[in-house]
Amino acid sequence: MTSRLTLQFVSQDKAPSYPVMLLVSAKDSNPFLDAAGKALDQTFNGAISRAMTEASFKADPGEDVVIRGTEGSVILVGIGANDAIGVESENLGGHIMAAMAKSKLKDITLMASGRSADWVASLAYGAYLAGYHFSRYFTKGKNANPTQASMAIVVDDPKATTSAYQRLEGIASGVFMARDLVSEPSNILYPAEYANRCLELSKLGIEVQVLNDDDMSKEGMHLLLAVGQGSERESRMVVMRWNGGGNEDPMVLIGKGVCFDTGGISIKPAAGMEDMKWDMGGSAAVVGAMKAIAAAGIKRNVVGLVGLVENMPDGKAIKPGDVVTSMSGQTVEIINTDAEGRLVLADVMTYAQRHLKPSIMIDLATLTGAILVSLGMVQSGLFANNDHLASAISNAAAATGEGTWRMPLGKDYDKLIDSKIADMKNIGGRYGGSVTAACFLQRFVENDTPWAHLDIAGMAWSDKAKPTVPAGGTGYGVRLLTHFVEHFQPSS
Ligand code: BES
Ligand code: MN
Ligand code: ZN
Repeated sequence: MTSRLTLQFVSQDKAPSYPVMLLVSAKDSNPFLDAAGKALDQTFNGAISRAMTEASFKADPGEDVVIRGTEGSVILVGIGANDAIGVESENLGGHIMAAMAKSKLKDITLMASGRSADWVASLAYGAYLAGYHFSRYFTKGKNANPTQASMAIVVDDPKATTSAYQRLEGIASGVFMARDLVSEPSNILYPAEYANRCLELSKLGIEVQVLNDDDMSKEGMHLLLAVGQGSERESRMVVMRWNGGGNEDPMVLIGKGVCFDTGGISIKPAAGMEDMKWDMGGSAAVVGAMKAIAAAGIKRNVVGLVGLVENMPDGKAIKPGDVVTSMSGQTVEIINTDAEGRLVLADVMTYAQRHLKPSIMIDLATLTGAILVSLGMVQSGLFANNDHLASAISNAAAATGEGTWRMPLGKDYDKLIDSKIADMKNIGGRYGGSVTAACFLQRFVENDTPWAHLDIAGMAWSDKAKPTVPAGGTGYGVRLLTHFVEHFQPSS
């Protein structure tokens, strides 16, 4: 699905049509009108400055006042004192969408002359992201046909602004794809159907390869297959190659794609189990990032891999105590069939290292409930065997507002997953569950490949809206990964 907002950048050759939105900056907490604002204030015989005073308008970021004059309506939106390009300007775009919804003025002219093309483009990007909706399954009422909004944005240089924006719109298309995938229920989005959606990325110049159960069996991916073996639906792995970077070794992105996680034989309680349709949020971030990277034409080599399975209890399902040989050759005792994501990821990581020569490897997964206990729904958990890679990921997180917080690894945690019968077991003890899960993954890193793991269990879905992220599937990770991939330089 896409945004409710359509927008275009125009030059100021005639008087703007109402309703008009003015962006109001503040200096030392005092709001002041720009040239366009002053001109309009004159047309309104000073009604705009009077309204600002009466409402004690401070022009704080996102603060809004509506003036309904006889000539037409004017919405003032505060933008504060900060004109940085990035999370702040994107959030302002989100506030603009909120102000439009609140005022019920849905087709506006936004006055943005005198401001840089990149700043305006990023504001527009934020508004566009905020306009996303997933209304596919409503057949009637307001939800089936959400209010459309439009914005003519008056700028100094429509051409430059449009070209800056197009790149960002490409990234938004990746965010939207991830949100769509996360929002889809598992009766619609099962592994084979998910793989079909990935195949559509070939239109953008991404090479897409799909492996089925037989293909993965030949590769020895018995951990991944063990998770899927209790389901009527076959498993899939999708490999997506983007060759934008000449002959550099590829950066590899890996995603957990559990289309539904019942827990398997170690079945989950009924309450809230519906949330486990979004246990494929890590894979959605990877697929969305691949789309964003291609749509924005980023000049790097990237391979995205997603392991797609459904974790079901069944006569054929994996059972507690079973021992399975991984693609790496290491054996795993399955203590709890609900710790399935790490099993899927382990084989995909091995596949990546045996076939793709990754320069670095990052996996994303809704891996543990424990990360929600540690970090809430504010940041993901970042685990890494390499400080340079970890700090590059943290920088991308800060630049995009998709936060992450470094968590530990180490021998004393790792020994908690030693097994009495096999090379390792798939859960640690009662405590430190996110760390022991990461330690499990680390056992599948070969030759010290720089590797990082993002546990996004708290981030893939949100019941509360943020300025540029409506409630529902968030698309968390797409912006972070896209930014990372564009800027990362291996340390020499
Ligand atoms: N998919 C869950 C983790 C999860 C929990 C994601 C809540 C999103 C919200 C994962 O497969 C799981 O079940 N993990 C178990 C691990 C345990 C059995 C060691 C958990 O966190 O309880
Ligand atoms: Mn589980
Ligand atoms: Zn899971």
